[in-house]
Amino acid sequence: MWQRCNTVSNLFRTRLAKEFDDRTARFHTSVVEDLRMFNEDVDGTMAHDIMLHEQGIMDAETLKKILGALQEIKEEWKNGELEIGAEYEDIHPFIEARVIEKIGLEAGGAMHTGRSRNDQVMVDMKMVTKKEMLAIAENVLNLVKTMCELADKHTETAMVYYTHGQPAMIGTFGHYLLAYVDQYMRDYQRIKQCYDRVNYNPLGATAIGGTNFRISRLRTSELLGFDYIQENSVDAVSSRDWAMEITSVLSILMANMSRMAADFVMWSGAEFQYITVADEYSSSSSIMPQKVNPSTLELIRGKSAEVFGTLQEIMTMVKGLPTGYYQDLQQTKIALWRAFDTTRTSVEVLNGAISTLTVNEDKMMAQVKGSFIFAVQLAETLAEDEALTFREAYKITAEVVKKLVSEDRTLEDLTAEEVQKVAKDLFGKDIKVSSSIAEKVSNPKKALNNLRSPGSPHPAEIGMAVENRLELRERYWKELDFLKIKLVIAADNLKNAIAKYTA
Ligand code: ARG
Repeated sequence: MWQRCNTVSNLFRTRLAKEFDDRTARFHTSVVEDLRMFNEDVDGTMAHDIMLHEQGIMDAETLKKILGALQEIKEEWKNGELEIGAEYEDIHPFIEARVIEKIGLEAGGAMHTGRSRNDQVMVDMKMVTKKEMLAIAENVLNLVKTMCELADKHTETAMVYYTHGQPAMIGTFGHYLLAYVDQYMRDYQRIKQCYDRVNYNPLGATAIGGTNFRISRLRTSELLGFDYIQENSVDAVSSRDWAMEITSVLSILMANMSRMAADFVMWSGAEFQYITVADEYSSSSSIMPQKVNPSTLELIRGKSAEVFGTLQEIMTMVKGLPTGYYQDLQQTKIALWRAFDTTRTSVEVLNGAISTLTVNEDKMMAQVKGSFIFAVQLAETLAEDEALTFREAYKITAEVVKKLVSEDRTLEDLTAEEVQKVAKDLFGKDIKVSSSIAEKVSNPKKALNNLRSPGSPHPAEIGMAVENRLELRERYWKELDFLKIKLVIAADNLKNAIAKYTA
């Protein structure tokens, strides 16, 4: 893959007597991971040089030649005509060398005035990062929509809620889904807030301490779609807190998805059969012909580990690194790109798996029926209806449950007399229990409709919550649109400026 180019590969090893040998060159170069920001690098240079001209630092003729050469290079890249070998430390000298090859050192040599690779690589990375964050945010909102639509169909689908892996309380599948909708909404918010903090332009910091040239950092911000400048030049080239923040935010998103995936993997198993993952998201076995594995969802779990790893990688890279640029920081890109790719595809695939899964309501109901999850309902009903404290009602219920379990019966065939007898035995109290107590506490529909606390699985409340979340999602979608439009406007500004100076 790596071969010597005809272009001037050696722009700035002037101080050094010898070249890297091939192995060291391959070890040292970042060209492979840099390819992802090829277009951003060219755009960054164009914006920078236009600004140099407007500030009186570069003459019109030179700018015109540089912009022309850069446009050609972009075209060559698009057509797959460029071969970029490890003799280039990174993409930046490759492009500079290619410009010089096209228009000579006289004009091309002005291209890198008043900047350094240190601020250049940061602005490139941030441009790629902003696009990636918008794409992931959009995917998250798509997932939210899918989940809301599914939740809306299951506002009354009763299911067992578990704590400690044991049947705990009655819930609904719709309410369960909304629990994750709310988590994904917060994931969206975190991405958006993080985007706002990434949106600071580092270009113009140069290597670490600025430049004698009277550059305009606001102008390059405008042409490249940044809302602010990252003012302090040391901060601009040295800090990677933004990369740690993104990988944190993406790790949290992955953790949330992973946990939901874990439920679905379990619930698709033969012992539950609550859901069936669609064939197009399942795999089979090379030996066991009967197998239908929810492996896509297992991979959501597995890949979350990969994203957590990128956070660890960047944190470890930065910790103990003295202030300023060190080559260590070159590795940031690899971790970031991996975090973006893995997270983006995970959200997409999860969305696909959710939108195609089958919900087996009867299997959910089969677990609800005859389970003791209604014990809470009984205790609360007793505590409400009678002159009992909650703890007394709890103890009565516990005795009742013990008795039913030992007699291999369920709450459904509980009688009022039995409850009254336990109350008398335990506390010497005469209580009056309704003859319809069994039906009252263990009918799933009634139990759900009796829930009164805000945020409970009460079906009417879930219906309203779905509407509310969809509205909020709509607002977030518009917010994203606005951010995207701002980037389009910036790209337009750059295009117009290029047209003006190449005319
Ligand atoms: N390839 C480098 C990176 O990705 C670009 C900056 C190099 N700067 C330097 N002073 N060697 O970080």
